[in-house]
Amino acid sequence: MQIHLSLDGAGGLGQRLYEALRRALLDGQVAPGERLPPSRVLAAELGLSRRLVVEAYERLAAEGFLGATTGRGTFVLRVPPPPQQTLRQAGPGPGAHWRSPPAWAGRLAPGRHNFPGGVTDRALLPWAAWRRAMMAALRETSRDIGFYGDPQGEASLRLAIARYLGYSRGLACDGDALLITQGAQQGLDLLARVRVAPGDTVAMEEPGYPPARAVFEARGARVVPVPVDQQGLCVDELPASASLVYVTPSHQFPLGMPMSLERRLALLAFARRHDALVVEDDYDGEFRFQGRPLDALKSLDRDGRVAYLGSFSKVLHADLRLGYLLMPPGLATALTRARAFNDGYPPLVTQRALARLMIGGDFARHLRRMQRLYAARRTRLEKALAEYPRLWTPLPQVAGIHMALRFTAPVPDLAARLDAADVRANPLAPFHAGDPGLDGLLLGFGVIDGDAIDRGVAALAEVVGGAAAPR
Ligand SMILES: Cc1ncc(COP(=O)(O)O)c(C=O)c1O
Repeated sequence: MQIHLSLDGAGGLGQRLYEALRRALLDGQVAPGERLPPSRVLAAELGLSRRLVVEAYERLAAEGFLGATTGRGTFVLRVPPPPQQTLRQAGPGPGAHWRSPPAWAGRLAPGRHNFPGGVTDRALLPWAAWRRAMMAALRETSRDIGFYGDPQGEASLRLAIARYLGYSRGLACDGDALLITQGAQQGLDLLARVRVAPGDTVAMEEPGYPPARAVFEARGARVVPVPVDQQGLCVDELPASASLVYVTPSHQFPLGMPMSLERRLALLAFARRHDALVVEDDYDGEFRFQGRPLDALKSLDRDGRVAYLGSFSKVLHADLRLGYLLMPPGLATALTRARAFNDGYPPLVTQRALARLMIGGDFARHLRRMQRLYAARRTRLEKALAEYPRLWTPLPQVAGIHMALRFTAPVPDLAARLDAADVRANPLAPFHAGDPGLDGLLLGFGVIDGDAIDRGVAALAEVVGGAAAPR
């Protein structure tokens, strides 16, 4: 194997060689189990006497870095962790929050009963159609001259999304106002970069979406939790100083109620009065169970105060890492530039494949299939939960791929009990910035189906109430 060593520095040649090898081992240049060059070869490469190399190897072997097997050479053993990190830790202020990941970011690994929030089933993706679209996109790209792509995203995909937003979310827009992102999360990050300065006030629903809170806090914003009730965000309680308000109007995250029309109009009026930006996160509004999906809040925005975030994470899968941002005209240039500075542009082939999936009708077919499937799962989950009225109260839902419930009494050690019963579900408490009151659960039904729903609810009932008997 090749190993790069610099013998610069003070001291004798033997000492410098020993130090350079030690550094290479600590930096992970050579992994445990790998064989070092034979002493004769390394000596010739470095123009040193073989004796110096043998001595350095022996010293490192004595320290436990290296081992030798007769006739097979000198091997790297498990290298101890590097000593004290020399990089300065982020101090308080912007960046401090990067050290503690938000609760929601610790996505759950599968268990026996799987109700993870915000996850869809890979097995249900339209793989055959996706394969065809990828092949066609690869052919198209192989014939292209190899220039860098557009930071705003491929025009074909923006056009397909603009049409989709028109018929599915009541949004009249054209592709020029759209920015393709790596999921809603990148959209949030870009908005924070161009619109939030340290010390600004950002208002969020309470409880709310921790990754959004984390992005704003990382910018140094003062994030103010504002309560929600059955009509969604309590607009009257917004602090007048809020320069940005983040909301989930179609399906409040995590509790699930849609924001009423009255509140939507009040929020837009607030934004006008205080010159604030409203960020609408429409992460799963496509899945509505009663009547036509509520149009997006953005469809009421007459003066460009709403930034609208969409994502393919729920309608297809989070693995795609694709979303979009319908940009308010006043922010379009800044957002596009911030995107270019950040990661250049979105991956070309994936964008082109998705555009084909959307334009060819496969995406709409998948969506209709999933709407039927999720409606059936939701009905089954509601029915199963209704068996245990003593334990919990399900919160009314009209959309989305998760439901929330509140317990009727405190449940001590909830997370540990869920773990012990191998139930994957998200307690509601971590979604609160303040006192959560009575805890509850967010139950996703993106990956659980049929009888597994009933079995999962029975396991939950054990966790929550001991061996609570059904009504
Ligand atoms: C409130 C909310 N917004 C957005 C998303 C999607 O994020 P992304 O598009 O970055 O995967 C989720 C996913 O769980 C979510 O719960």
